[in-house]
Amino acid sequence: NRRDLANIPPGPKPWPLVGNFGGFLIPSFIRGRFGLHSDGTVKNAMVVLTEQANVYGNVYSLFVGSQLMVVLNGYEVVKDALSNHSRVFSDRPDIPAITIMTKRKGIVFAPYGPVWKKQRKFCHATLRNFGLGRLSLEPCILRGLASVKTELMRLNEGSGAAGVDPAPLIRNAVSNVICSLILGQSFHHEDRQFRNMLDLMDRGLEICVNSPAVLINIFPLLYYFPFGVFKELRQVEGDITVFLKRVIANHRETFNPDHPRDLVDMYLKEMSVQEDSSFTEDYLFYIIGDLFIAGTDTTANSVLWILLYMVLHPDIQDRVQAEIDEVLGTHRDPSMTDKGSLPFTEATIMEVQRLTVAVPLAIPHMASSTTEFRGYTIPKGTLIVPNLWSVHRDPTLWDDPDSFNPGRFLDDEGKLLRIECFIPFGIGPRVCMGEQLAKMELFLAVTSLLQAFRFRLPEGTPPPTLNGRFGLTLAPCPYAVCVHPRR
Ligand code: HEM
Repeated sequence: NRRDLANIPPGPKPWPLVGNFGGFLIPSFIRGRFGLHSDGTVKNAMVVLTEQANVYGNVYSLFVGSQLMVVLNGYEVVKDALSNHSRVFSDRPDIPAITIMTKRKGIVFAPYGPVWKKQRKFCHATLRNFGLGRLSLEPCILRGLASVKTELMRLNEGSGAAGVDPAPLIRNAVSNVICSLILGQSFHHEDRQFRNMLDLMDRGLEICVNSPAVLINIFPLLYYFPFGVFKELRQVEGDITVFLKRVIANHRETFNPDHPRDLVDMYLKEMSVQEDSSFTEDYLFYIIGDLFIAGTDTTANSVLWILLYMVLHPDIQDRVQAEIDEVLGTHRDPSMTDKGSLPFTEATIMEVQRLTVAVPLAIPHMASSTTEFRGYTIPKGTLIVPNLWSVHRDPTLWDDPDSFNPGRFLDDEGKLLRIECFIPFGIGPRVCMGEQLAKMELFLAVTSLLQAFRFRLPEGTPPPTLNGRFGLTLAPCPYAVCVHPRR
């Protein structure tokens, strides 16, 4: 067959036109044994892809339409590709639905090369300047958390025994951190314009990943279809463009190069001094969109997963709270300087991140030239999917990988272990640019919320499923909690 002749990695036989992608589009009951968990729920793509590695090996191939895609499984393979062969495997593919919207500009979907490198370096340094990973961002994050706590209390009192859905409040607090860094302002969670913007971004992603609009990737002209989700996608894109263009215009009007307030101001300033023509308002537009999308759902979902694991494992919640009480007491706000004194809390955060991998299939990579990899030929232009989920569930790396056990991240003296194959932020040159910011937000959110409240499921509610909903990120299915003040 074609695969053997070209020495490309093995894999299941593709269908005409749709390739192996048909297997994901066809309802799970037709897919039979691949499609369902034992409780009857549909398996997410990363679970199916991990199972396929047992059949075809850790490097195998699929076809999305006629596009060749290679799935990398397990730590050794993922590290070998993204670190040791990073020059070849750090490019991003030209995925029609995404290219239409990003024009391959910004950071996340920009091709690997000098422009991406310069833009990423500038944004990383600027965010750092405005407090990323430093103590100066702490007050901003803690202010957001203070209002989450007030609102949780208020809503909990009004909800009786039904409990509160924490998702909108957490999402709002997280996106406000990005807003402060990029736009120099934050918004109330009931602000209409802000909520609209968050909803639009959510809907845009949802349509691109979880609707018939995925077919644009196989038949790009569908994007111009005058009805259904295709029309809606163009509408959403138009609305986001209007919002972001207004943000940039407002900054231009009030811009003072001697007092840059945020990333947008810093970028406008850089544009005036840089001779490099890639620093343009157009590029800035895509960077703002990227940071919003990359920095909101990932972090918010991680906090929500941690709260969910806490209500499902009250004994672990007890231990985290005992540690917080001992180090912080019940009144002092947490600070990043407390991190080293709260190893069990940190291990709990890491264990939830291991089990729930916020971006389970990373962001697709692409081979920028034809290369030999682990005995196979990977042709130029192959879509590369680093399966981070498979790394975190590998039974050869983790004891009883499906069980929740924060202790695996601690040594015999209770000190935090550095485990190399724990890679929720990816690895190599395309590693998450917001890793430090995300770690800061997760630590402060978890310590602050668990210091203030005991979380439990509403009485009589069946425990929510832990399978989650997979788009580009893995979100917990909606759930409600009851909160009990501890102070
Ligand atoms: C990329 C994880 C939060 C900005 C990524 C990737 C992963 C990831 C797995 C893809 C790596 C690859 O393609 O190989 C996470 C997780 C987060 C988080 C688990 C939270 C818990 C953030 C935040 C920001 C951010 C808060 C905002 C500053 C980015 C950017 C990229 C990226 C810009 C693209 C990097 C590039 O292509 O060069 N993230 N992320 N992320 N992340 Fe995050």
